[in-house]
Amino acid sequence: MTLGPIPHYLLPDNVSVEEDRLSVGGVDVIDLAEEYGTPLFIYDEDHLRARCREAVAAFGDGVAYATKAFLSQAMARLVWEEGMHLDVATGGELHVSLSAGVPADRLVMHGNNKSSAELRMALEAGVGRVVLDSFDEIGRIEALVADGCRVPKVLVRLNPGIDVHTHEYLQTGIADSKFGFGISSGDAHRAIEIAAASRAMELVGVHAHIGSQIFVAGSFGKAIGALAPFIKNHALAEVSIGGGLGVAYVTGESAPSIPEWADSVKEACLTHGITARITAEPGRSIVARGAITLYTVGTIKEIDSIRTYVAVDGGMSDNPRPVLYGSGYEAFLPRAVGAERSKQVRIVGKHCESGDVVVSEASVPADIAVGDIVCTPVTGAYGHSMGSNYNMVLRPAVVFVSSGQARLVVRRESYDDLTRRDVTVA
Ligand SMILES: Cc1ncc(COP(=O)(O)O)c(C=O)c1O
Repeated sequence: MTLGPIPHYLLPDNVSVEEDRLSVGGVDVIDLAEEYGTPLFIYDEDHLRARCREAVAAFGDGVAYATKAFLSQAMARLVWEEGMHLDVATGGELHVSLSAGVPADRLVMHGNNKSSAELRMALEAGVGRVVLDSFDEIGRIEALVADGCRVPKVLVRLNPGIDVHTHEYLQTGIADSKFGFGISSGDAHRAIEIAAASRAMELVGVHAHIGSQIFVAGSFGKAIGALAPFIKNHALAEVSIGGGLGVAYVTGESAPSIPEWADSVKEACLTHGITARITAEPGRSIVARGAITLYTVGTIKEIDSIRTYVAVDGGMSDNPRPVLYGSGYEAFLPRAVGAERSKQVRIVGKHCESGDVVVSEASVPADIAVGDIVCTPVTGAYGHSMGSNYNMVLRPAVVFVSSGQARLVVRRESYDDLTRRDVTVA
């Protein structure tokens, strides 16, 4: 299905167009902009639930949602309700997930630099798994267990040394990486030996996360091949292939589905004779396409024969991906979904940085005007979660929509929020 010039594979599952205006989950998005203001994240709740169910059906019990992609109490609860576990990588993500009522045994504790305090919090709560990432961390867990904390089940994060075709900052499985224990250096072997011998932890498996925005399913197979000898030599019961499945952001891109990804991982396990339980930690592929962002156009500058700048009321504080990775997006006007997008513009934010770009090369309808609501699709992952208060810009609200109803799940920040942590000097 194509909704005007924007293909459906760049929009949430449950979209429709009435009188050329966009609705998500049965709710007109311009009405939502009027009610909640802009910038605004709108998530199609049924889309999120469908992706979670797809992941559970494809990988089985144990598959975890990587909360770093997008987390709020409502999201944590939704993921748990749909049968996924949750990957948390900091004390903060652990806190939000627990505060949403997710049972601790559904949580997988990650992080390349977990502090003793974070580890204590995880062990005292009784998290389901801790994924070991350094020798220092092993020492910290031993000290905590000696101090009375419960013995955790652990996976050892291995670094298979695989070069995947993605942005340099999204590669995590190459030898020169801060994550995991390198296989080529022998650290992986040593870490597994130590974890297996330790009374302060129960070694249950190995883990690898080779990077993000990976479109070639075969890359995961290579990682499985690198992990296979460790799984077999130690008769380990579990293997997690991490996250990293790519998603399409612009017209013409295509990515494997979650079931296709799972099939290729399972096939690689079969090829390498692995019978361990296979799990994964998708983040982006669960949430990215499930959301759109709405902005209001504030100024339009035509710079003769060079470029047109369309400035909106958000930017790098709600979506730093273009600045960090040069990521591309589409843009369109939800008041005129079917309109031809014949005008080339650069959509920029309101921050004091020339690099504050929302869409570098956007095609928009020629009659775009100040006051228009602009929509960028596929903004459900690593936008809200990587947002900031740069320039003291208020972080946007988040609404979930389903069956014609909208519910506010994160309120917009207020100016009072900006000074809440300040200690006033008398
Ligand atoms: C250990 C780990 N697991 C899972 C993920 C989720 O990756 P993605 O959102 O690309 O699926 C990440 C992302 O950085 C990660 O570091």
